[in-house]
Amino acid sequence: MTLLVGSASRILADAALAALRAPSVLNTQPWRWHIERDTARLSADRSRRLARIDPDGRLMLLSCGAALHHACVTLAAGGVDFAVDPLPDQDAPEALAIIRYRGDTAPSATAQRLRDAIAVRWSDRRPFSGTPVPDETLERLRVTAGRPGAHLHLVRASELVTVIAAAGHAAAAEMADPTYRAELLSWLRPAGMGRDGMPVDTITPPGVRQVPLRDFTTAGWLPAIYSDTDVADREARYGIVVTDGDGPADWLRAGVTLSAALLAATADGLATSAMSDLVEEPAARIALQRMLGDVGYPAIGVRIGVPAAGPPPPRAPRRPAAEMVEIVAESAPG
Ligand SMILES: Cc1cc2nc3c(=O)[nH]c(=O)nc-3n(C[C@H](O)[C@H](O)[C@H](O)COP(=O)(O)O)c2cc1C
Repeated sequence: MTLLVGSASRILADAALAALRAPSVLNTQPWRWHIERDTARLSADRSRRLARIDPDGRLMLLSCGAALHHACVTLAAGGVDFAVDPLPDQDAPEALAIIRYRGDTAPSATAQRLRDAIAVRWSDRRPFSGTPVPDETLERLRVTAGRPGAHLHLVRASELVTVIAAAGHAAAAEMADPTYRAELLSWLRPAGMGRDGMPVDTITPPGVRQVPLRDFTTAGWLPAIYSDTDVADREARYGIVVTDGDGPADWLRAGVTLSAALLAATADGLATSAMSDLVEEPAARIALQRMLGDVGYPAIGVRIGVPAAGPPPPRAPRRPAAEMVEIVAESAPG
């Protein structure tokens, strides 16, 4: 008996492979793809959820939402007609979304721009350059990222103090907790090592910044060698992905919006990094929610800026595709 992978399966598998470049919290890559005939099923790999940082699985689902968006952008850029059933809980309760292949259509130019950004996007935690981000570019980004149920809120100058306070509160609460420090440490990797987690040469030592970034160093890997007393990231802009609700479907949607914002920014030549520390501690999350005027739920922060000159650090690694993408072959007729 001959086993075949049909053309729909092959197209969906290519999209799933492209989605392995999606960002994920601490580079946990908590997703699984199952490709069978004309469907690609995305599920969360719950063994990769961060017990202390992410007890509800919101960041795990955000990461999966980013992967879903990467796959959809790849399909749309390649002229594939498809439908997405989010959280189809009847026949496969563990599934987060099912992509159904429907045939060909005209390739989308917007999707092609985002698809091309997948290969060149990375989390740039270096201080940004001193060049401001044009307001029109940010506005375009906001429009591209928005979708029903989730949008990108651009932080206004008057709101920055709340974001700074939320980051400071999160850092103080998390760093004071040995369980947090142990979990962070367990996902740090020596430079150039590992297929997941955060190799230490992909992170930047802490310094004085307009809004502090998560400090990866106090877990013991790097000395705080950043001695520049100037305030970095003066020209950084910040966005908050905001959802209408605060449940699993909203977190998945937030990941789609996050991915759209990161890829659109990359396509415009901007650098980005995600900031989930802003929402990991309930008090910080509530402070942000009040800042937003209770119009929605803050799901994650995004830092956006003009990249600094100089060579970028190495890219964060990915796990082998075979661990994350399963393709079911079909028997050939006859
Ligand atoms: C849900 C989520 C939360 C994240 N939180 C942070 C964060 O708090 N700080 C940070 O520096 N990067 C954060 N990131 C970025 C990841 O660390 C990054 O995507 C991962 O290490 C892979 O690296 P890459 O984005 O360069 O491909 C987050 C990403 C996602 C999707």
